[in-house]
Amino acid sequence: MRDEGLLSGSQQPDEAAFEAGLRPRRMEDFVGQAELKERLTILIEAAAERQEPVDHLLFSGPPGLGKTTMAAIVAASMNAQFRSTAGPALERAGDLAAILSNLEQGDVMFIDEIHRLPRAVEEVLYSAMEDFQLDVVVGKGPGARSIRLPLPGFTLIGATTRVGRVSAPLRDRFGYLARLDYYPPGELDAVVGRSAGILGIAVDAGGRREIATRSRGTPRVANRLLRRVRDFAAVRAEGRVDEATARRALEVFEVDRAGLDRVDRAILEAVVGKFGGGPVGLSTLAIAVGEEPETVEDAYEPFLLQQGLLQRTPRGRIATALTYRHLGLEPPPPGAQATLL
Ligand SMILES: Nc1ncnc2c1ncn2[C@@H]1O[C@H](COP(=O)(O)OP(=O)(O)O)[C@@H](O)[C@H]1O
Ligand SMILES: [Mg+2]
Repeated sequence: MRDEGLLSGSQQPDEAAFEAGLRPRRMEDFVGQAELKERLTILIEAAAERQEPVDHLLFSGPPGLGKTTMAAIVAASMNAQFRSTAGPALERAGDLAAILSNLEQGDVMFIDEIHRLPRAVEEVLYSAMEDFQLDVVVGKGPGARSIRLPLPGFTLIGATTRVGRVSAPLRDRFGYLARLDYYPPGELDAVVGRSAGILGIAVDAGGRREIATRSRGTPRVANRLLRRVRDFAAVRAEGRVDEATARRALEVFEVDRAGLDRVDRAILEAVVGKFGGGPVGLSTLAIAVGEEPETVEDAYEPFLLQQGLLQRTPRGRIATALTYRHLGLEPPPPGAQATLL
């Protein structure tokens, strides 16, 4: 059975309501990322003591790791209103000016996909972030003039999957940059346990572990797999999820033991089989597996790189010893591989 997007970190069209019910609302309910939670808690408490809004925060990392969730938690911890928008929704400077001029003292303004803000819109943000001033142009033609309007103190939280695409002037205006990384299996285990509790699903330790290790380090994927396993268990295992049930369910959905799906495996097989272990350029590789280069780069590659199943070099992607082993092949001797580099 093929299930497009089962392992994608991005939210699927039918998932919003399901996810909303599982979203942690308080810092202590947010699983893992201990260092990040500690630093944010300090920032929040220190700002509260000074009676100032928290510094602007930029969260980066692959989709599904909790950027939006954490932004909402920060707002809740500040007892602030959470006003959410996204880069692509702000087409003109006026769109942003309208939101900014409606802010109240202490609000949190969240801009998702902030790397996709048009340049003209971004420029309005600079003085808003730095001086809490809004520069607006009134009138047209030779009579046009620029006026400054004061804004209330607010906290901007930006989120991005592509921190390299956030311009330097914008990046520099954030007081704190946090990178969320893939979660280790133990933390995903806790995510699964927490969600199973909320949803009233009976999952034992083996079942949790089986789901956690196949979730690509991503809480959103862990929750999604839990839901699929629940459905499978309901019709095949009287609703109880143990290790064997979870494994059978995930095999039905073509998720392998390392959390790789059909496209991931196609990428690895292409690098090894078609391109002799690489190096192969991104677009050539994407064509070989029938995906867009951006999809390979954003949705598949980060996890494969993080797992050491693929390596990026200036000349292209190359296989590693782990790539061969994952495909059940013998890695070439070290000398032979060195000539490929
Ligand atoms: N650390 C976490 N603990 C518990 N659940 C989490 C955590 N991170 C993410 N989630 C869950 O995963 C889903 C996706 O999180 P989200 O914040 O939307 O990710 P992002 O904005 O990074 O794409 C949310 O519904 C939330 O329930
Ligand atoms: Mg998000």
